[in-house]
Amino acid sequence: MARFLTIDDLDFSGKTVILRPDFNVPIDPGTGEILDDSRIREHAETIRELAAKDAKIVILAHQGRPGEREYLESLRKHAERLSKILGFKVGYVDDLVGDAALEAISKLEPGGVLLLKNVRSHPDEGREAPPEEHARSEIVSKLSRVADVFVLDGFSVAHRSHASVVGFAYTLPSCAGRVMERELKALDRILEKPEKPFVCILGGAKSEKSTGMIDYFLGKGLADHILTGGLIGQLLLLASGLDLGSVNIKVLEKRGFLKFRDEAVGILRRYDGMVKMPIDVAVDMDGRRVEIPIEDLPSEYPIMDIGCRTIEMYKQTISNAKSILVSGPLGVYEDERFIEGTSEIYRAVASSGAYRVGGGGDTVAALERLGLRDRFSYVSLAGGAFIEYISGGRLPGVEALELAYGRVKRIRRSK
Ligand code: 3PG
Repeated sequence: MARFLTIDDLDFSGKTVILRPDFNVPIDPGTGEILDDSRIREHAETIRELAAKDAKIVILAHQGRPGEREYLESLRKHAERLSKILGFKVGYVDDLVGDAALEAISKLEPGGVLLLKNVRSHPDEGREAPPEEHARSEIVSKLSRVADVFVLDGFSVAHRSHASVVGFAYTLPSCAGRVMERELKALDRILEKPEKPFVCILGGAKSEKSTGMIDYFLGKGLADHILTGGLIGQLLLLASGLDLGSVNIKVLEKRGFLKFRDEAVGILRRYDGMVKMPIDVAVDMDGRRVEIPIEDLPSEYPIMDIGCRTIEMYKQTISNAKSILVSGPLGVYEDERFIEGTSEIYRAVASSGAYRVGGGGDTVAALERLGLRDRFSYVSLAGGAFIEYISGGRLPGVEALELAYGRVKRIRRSK
């Protein structure tokens, strides 16, 4: 269980606060318009609360990665959107640690909000480095001199050991914002002591951590069943000795799954019966959805979804669950012909009485598309950080908050 201070633990009145949310949002490549402002909306809650406490709020955020098209978009756009959401003006300065930024910070009034230039425009930021080193970086040292408190609200950037994420916890009293607090509490609830039976539904097309996640959940005795679809489901079928057909094996290779074949074989050996694989699949047969039992594999057609018999089998397991974690869609949900597996399984989860949590970019997009987002107990805003955290990985941002917590506890004890 992560231990950290929250906004309730520190004094903000008249204080200058460095706030690190995650304003990295999808942007229309044609018009440059923000396509989905969910992240900005969520962080607005923290900002509103800090403003009501008379803090002077300086926001450090990023958009895209250097070299990407989205990185070129100015954060002025984000400041404008945030102003609309908050109902009052948020300032923007196209500078990070120079005179213009420092002057704008010095002019902030209590309750005022200022967004600085994309923090990734500074070479200190994008480098993965130890927190102690980042604490000495230009971004952290210059801004710490003019600030009193640091609030880390971007759980979805906490897997990055970047200056704006980990450096300030060494130089300023630091706490979690409301988004960070909510994310950690919701995920810890399911990861620490999940109500049993705990069912984990894994799918999607990202190979990162897919086998590691299964190992973590079953090796720690957390999950009782893992239901698989998407490419991890196919990898496990392959590992069980089935030939999927060259077209499908090529996809597994291209998406980076094939290199985990030995791990998948080991998982099936170690956790016999706990990891469920599809018993039938839907293939794209010249534009038509055709379902075939796995006994009929290999197929010369691409596998795009789980089949009806698998859906029924998975629904049985879901109906008995008390906790459910969903990471990744079960098939190619972007295509109406192959959304059925994801739609049926997500709906079964949404209607279950279990504590139900979802996360990861594709999961959230699929939940949105199906109109189910509000029917989950909790949906994480994070992509990579969510996967890292639920696979038992370390999040440098969370460790930085724990360090700040430990420091305060030590001081309080010694008084
Ligand atoms: C995200 O969108 O997941 C976060 O903003 C992290 O972005 P990154 O993967 O570019 O660090």
